[in-house]
Amino acid sequence: MTRKDFFARVGFGAATLLVPSCIAGIATSCSSESEGSPTPAPTNVDFTLDISTGSLATNGGFLVHNGIVVARTNTGEFLAVSASCTHQGTNVNYNAAGNKFICPNHGAQFSSTGVVTQGPASSNLQQYNTTLTGNSLHVFS
Ligand code: FES
Repeated sequence: MTRKDFFARVGFGAATLLVPSCIAGIATSCSSESEGSPTPAPTNVDFTLDISTGSLATNGGFLVHNGIVVARTNTGEFLAVSASCTHQGTNVNYNAAGNKFICPNHGAQFSSTGVVTQGPASSNLQQYNTTLTGNSLHVFS
């Protein structure tokens, strides 16, 4: 038996043995690999952002900083909630038109204060306080 023949037979045999188990494992391994875990909501939050430039300089903009999504509504108010979706941890986006947070992963939606309004998430996002002084936005627990 040549080396080529050996690997051809062993390789084919191994593939024959592994394929069914791989196929059987796809459903669970693929779904478990794509699932994340929500990151716990940040605690002891206390930071300041300069809103004179960047996404918070205009109404409707938002950014994620230190695990918190900070948004500026279409009426110029500031919102701050934990960024990690409570379903599987994907960062939520702010939707200015609806004044809500939407998870791009499975579509969970949260009100402007972080309350779940549409699953699959079942827990609220943590809301944080904001205070604007000039161009400095203080975000805190
Ligand atoms: S991670 Fe599933 S809805 Fe957000």
